[in-house]
Amino acid sequence: MSDVQRLVILPNEQIGRIHPHLHGHFAEHLGELVYNGVWVDPDGPIPNRGGLRLDVLDALRPLEIPALRWPGGCFADDYHWRDGVGRRADRPLRLNRHWGMAPEPNHFGTHEFVSFCRALGAEPYFAANLGSGTPTEMSQWVEYCNHEGDSTLSRERRANGEQDPFRIRYWGIGNENWGCGGHLSPEHYAEEYCRFRTFLSEYPKSPVEGIACGPNNADWDWTRRFFTQLKRGWSDRTRLVQGFAAHYYCGTSGAATEYDTNQWYELLSRGRAVDGVIAGHRALMDEFDPERRVKLILDEWGTWHPVEPGKPRSGLYQQNTIRDACVAAISLDVFHDYADALWMANIAQLVNVLQALLLVQGDRCIKTPTYHVFDLYRPHQGATAVRLLSAADTVSDGGGSAGWCRTRYLPARPFALRAVDGSASVVGGRLCVTMVNTNPVESVEAELHLHGASFGEAEWVYLAGADYRDHNTFEQPDRVRLSAPKMLRGEGDRMRIQLPPASVSRVRTLMS
Ligand code: AHR
Repeated sequence: MSDVQRLVILPNEQIGRIHPHLHGHFAEHLGELVYNGVWVDPDGPIPNRGGLRLDVLDALRPLEIPALRWPGGCFADDYHWRDGVGRRADRPLRLNRHWGMAPEPNHFGTHEFVSFCRALGAEPYFAANLGSGTPTEMSQWVEYCNHEGDSTLSRERRANGEQDPFRIRYWGIGNENWGCGGHLSPEHYAEEYCRFRTFLSEYPKSPVEGIACGPNNADWDWTRRFFTQLKRGWSDRTRLVQGFAAHYYCGTSGAATEYDTNQWYELLSRGRAVDGVIAGHRALMDEFDPERRVKLILDEWGTWHPVEPGKPRSGLYQQNTIRDACVAAISLDVFHDYADALWMANIAQLVNVLQALLLVQGDRCIKTPTYHVFDLYRPHQGATAVRLLSAADTVSDGGGSAGWCRTRYLPARPFALRAVDGSASVVGGRLCVTMVNTNPVESVEAELHLHGASFGEAEWVYLAGADYRDHNTFEQPDRVRLSAPKMLRGEGDRMRIQLPPASVSRVRTLMS
């Protein structure tokens, strides 16, 4: 067992409100996410409500998903919304050209997606097609969704069963336009963004926000050149941008379920390096937008392992272990730490694709360890993030993660994977601390020190497996699950907890 790890919590040092959207999600028409994952034949054998799988709805509802991005991803720049409205039997059969030319029956379109969001209580976030679409196509989609009064498009929406506008607020304009969304230069994209954004109309009681495609990873060049281009010309066009969306996939080390302890550390370190991506892009944006009117978003994030053997390569199906859960927890902890700088973050993706929360097969549905992290971290949503300092000792540089850790644009504050990483938030005198024991094989004793306050009785819940490669399968769906709550007592401003190896913990207490 390693030394005691001290975590100092400063409840009076407030960072900002943890916008619930920092716990957001992403659902793309890719592999078996939408078809079979979320949507099934309404008249088929799998229990559903109007085509939406009941087991998936039941599993996701308790997470209080704040926002859901759709329909892509790369798919967004090849999607034509008209294909997905009207009588299902009449909708065209297309090919999903980014994802293995899979048949796209368009049975899940605007109305179906909005029903899914409503069933979950999630805010819909649409990604519009810039790469192969037109401003007219996008503006007509907005009118179809948001116009309350009379027009041919709002009549069509009503004829399709929706009397009142959907009032979609968040509109991404293109996706990865430096790559699958058109291979554009940042200057070209900036011009296209402005052209499209001009026609993203606001209707009464339906405010809209335009979200621009941001960089991949630590591509400072994209961010700098995009904003420089917006400043060119006779007016400052940054006012046309409400959100700027970066992507950060920390990749893999080994494979989804096959890795050793070095690879464990490497992947966790890469996950931790999201810190530099956020700090770097925000610092760059601050040069152009010092009042932070443009919200920084992490539109896609998560692990990306080789596809599960036996599954189609284009479906991006992967298993998900306690290692993925620790990456998710570390990432959410970093997001909380940047509550004043980051506004939304959407893990990729919801079901059956990449770092999924749920895996479904036939009529079965299981929760992954990553699902349980979102469940455990829920109380942070909407609370005020407060500073948590952990001993700055580095347990590992991840055997090659140094390159990833160079993601920081301004080397203001070094960061590295810590023995115990975490975050803290407060709401109504109630403290929530979440922690990851990053050691895959040894437990660690953490000492929480609450600066200027005392611990009341605390509730501790944790997520751990018997082994650092543990995961859930259709045969053993609950191998990795949350512990039963345990009650702990502190001594004044101190509390000690024995954190199991490779685990994620949550401690909640009333402060006095
Ligand atoms: O999430 C899978 C893909 O990753 C998305 O379609 C794309 O935006 C990113 O490259």
